[in-house]
Amino acid sequence: MNATSKFEPLLGPDDFPLLSAPMAEISDKAFRLIAREFGAALAWTEMVPAQVLCHPTPYTKELIDLSGETGVVVQLFGCRPAEVAAAAEVAAEAGAAAIDINMGCPVSRVVQGGAGAALMLRPELAAAIVDAVKSRVDVPVTVKLRRGWDEESPDALVVARAVAAAGADAITVHGRYRSQFFSGRADWEIIAAVKKAVGVPVIGNGDVWQAHDAARMFKETGCDAVMIGRAARGNPWIFAACRTYLATGREPQPPSPGERVAMAVKHCELLAAIQGETALFRMRRQADWYTRGLKGAARLRESLYRAGSLKEIKVVLTAFLACC
Ligand SMILES: Cc1cc2nc3c(=O)[nH]c(=O)nc-3n(C[C@H](O)[C@H](O)[C@H](O)COP(=O)(O)O)c2cc1C
Repeated sequence: MNATSKFEPLLGPDDFPLLSAPMAEISDKAFRLIAREFGAALAWTEMVPAQVLCHPTPYTKELIDLSGETGVVVQLFGCRPAEVAAAAEVAAEAGAAAIDINMGCPVSRVVQGGAGAALMLRPELAAAIVDAVKSRVDVPVTVKLRRGWDEESPDALVVARAVAAAGADAITVHGRYRSQFFSGRADWEIIAAVKKAVGVPVIGNGDVWQAHDAARMFKETGCDAVMIGRAARGNPWIFAACRTYLATGREPQPPSPGERVAMAVKHCELLAAIQGETALFRMRRQADWYTRGLKGAARLRESLYRAGSLKEIKVVLTAFLACC
């Protein structure tokens, strides 16, 4: 790792740091607080449109309300350097530990606007965005890439070199093409190749489902940190499990059904305190993830989807907990 990277100190004392991934409509404040409590060295926000952050609304203020949190990386998406830089300033003032620029989102409405994974097709523009943001904020500036747009286009190596030359302090690589969305297996060789090609910390991402996957990603790619997304939904224990496995070579006992449901209740209380009833839809899905595979989960899901308020969801979960 490059000793001069501004990002490295954020990774903390662990030899094998674990990071909580940006996930739209999932990695909100409650999710991040829980991920950090379970050992994530940093937690990413969901992606925030740069354009909107330049003209804050109550909704965007909520997206970058970082009060009571540390170690949060605010992820922005946009394709106009000056606009992304202005939004980065707002996020840095809100307390972001670092600013991350999304260059991997595959969603049509995002790439049609020239942002997200569309930037993988324009390495010069990607570099210009990093350059503009770097000139506006003092916190580290990172970039999250995919393997490429598709097999015919510049791959992550080309874009990583361009953004590193523009001053990116760290680079995350999710080893899938844009054209794959989330299908197929993530290619970890591209993570290893980017690690060899740039002098800044590289974060590996894609298909870490269990603690031994994280250990394998560190070993096979030489990456400086591992970012975990989908496996952490309803399962913040993944961060603690990875840390234990990386330190001892042993997988800890998985959480009991009671522990899982109790954590769902806690998540519900946190969401209610932070967002109030607007979080009803999010909490239904969260509760679903926490309880997936448990005995009686199918019937529980029906009750969760009938519940009309967070208060009712908590009642349903608490009743289920009593039977665990
Ligand atoms: C529901 C969902 C929302 C996502 N939202 C974002 C996002 O806002 N920004 C981003 O860079 N990646 C986003 N991702 C991609 C993840 O951060 C991550 O790169 C991907 O899921 C692969 O990692 P995993 O195999 O650990 O899940 C999202 C993924 C999912 C499943």
